[in-house]
Amino acid sequence: MNEADSEEMFNHLSARGGIITDNLDEADIVLVNTCTVREHAEHKGVSFLGRLCKWKRANPARIIIFTGCAAERLGKKLKKRYPYLDILSGAKNIDNFGRLLDESRLFLPAGKMHPNPTPLLAYATIMRGCDFACTYCIVPSVRGPVRCLPCKDILADIERKAQAGAKEITLLGQTVNAYKDGDVTFADLLNRISEIKGIERVRFTSPHPIYFTPEFLSAVKHNPKIARHVHLPVQSGSTKVLREMKRGYTREIFLEKTDALHACGFNISTDIIVGFPTETQEDFEQTLSLVERAGFLAAYCFKYSPRQGTPAAQMPLLAQNILEERLDILLNRVRGLSDNAYRAQVGSTQAVLMETPHKGRTSGNLWVQTQNAYDVGSVVNVVIEQCEGTLLFAR
Ligand code: 5AD
Ligand code: SF4
Repeated sequence: MNEADSEEMFNHLSARGGIITDNLDEADIVLVNTCTVREHAEHKGVSFLGRLCKWKRANPARIIIFTGCAAERLGKKLKKRYPYLDILSGAKNIDNFGRLLDESRLFLPAGKMHPNPTPLLAYATIMRGCDFACTYCIVPSVRGPVRCLPCKDILADIERKAQAGAKEITLLGQTVNAYKDGDVTFADLLNRISEIKGIERVRFTSPHPIYFTPEFLSAVKHNPKIARHVHLPVQSGSTKVLREMKRGYTREIFLEKTDALHACGFNISTDIIVGFPTETQEDFEQTLSLVERAGFLAAYCFKYSPRQGTPAAQMPLLAQNILEERLDILLNRVRGLSDNAYRAQVGSTQAVLMETPHKGRTSGNLWVQTQNAYDVGSVVNVVIEQCEGTLLFAR
């Protein structure tokens, strides 16, 4: 989502004459787009802002823009602490970003937007915000409640991207499969996007388990363009902890969803938090057993990080060494299972969308290197012959 937001904000800068450079010394403007989901993420953004002091001192005409979720959470405090910060724009403010640039009087008036030539893979934000209230999570407070974009605007945006060469679209939203616009459901939207000329694949991230309805599964069965990969955060394998996290499902319901998705040929990856304040050793073992049972292709595992203002931040923390120990055990377990899942692909036939002449991804989101060279953007059927780590080799 942050990559898509960065692209949107860059489009506003490019309308005012900006071009991208990866060389800080050459830049006149730096835009730092930030995350605050865990303390560590926020710290990275803010400490980078601290380091930009020297950069700005070398040429006071340089411009620093600080945006995103950490900007939303910390707000005006940042301006006080970093007086050389020119523009502060929180995550909720992204729709006003262009106006903010104009009001700063630091930029020329906006001309026509000149987005980079649309790449093969494009994003489309279909909803912003989140209506859940998971007790550990800061997202609802920094991104606000759900707002779904109108279906007709989404389709027009994707048609434009497809005409400019996009073949794969990734739909974005915090609970993306809760999408609704009047009568248009998430499944309807996926079907309508798949009908757009040039679109070969539609991905989406991140879904919430409770919105995987029979209607969605039936749409999938009839629509091969829906990519067979979901990133489906489970957070914990213990029903008790899930209840305390207010996730809205039990261990059993989650496993029913993953079974149904596996039956439709999906690869599933997930997010897991270890060391939630009420997590006992027994709860943690439930997470380990769920990981074995669910058949994830990959799992991103995080130590619980208290976020100010969330209900869980009121609870006493577990000792850091317990968190570290549990994370270590879980990571080891996940690594083994993931290796097995990759090796199980050997011998299968897969459709690969080529992103370079020799590399592309399967519908299930696995990287494949091909023996022969193919046109970028073509979809080729290959047989997987070998696997090294997370890269598959194919003929
Ligand atoms: N502590 C640790 N991990 C968190 N996540 C969200 N909030 C926290 C927190 N307070 C993780 C969840 C989510 C991912 C984006 O970040 O696993 O799915
Ligand atoms: Fe946070 Fe829960 Fe919303 Fe995901 S569903 S963004 S974890 S509150």
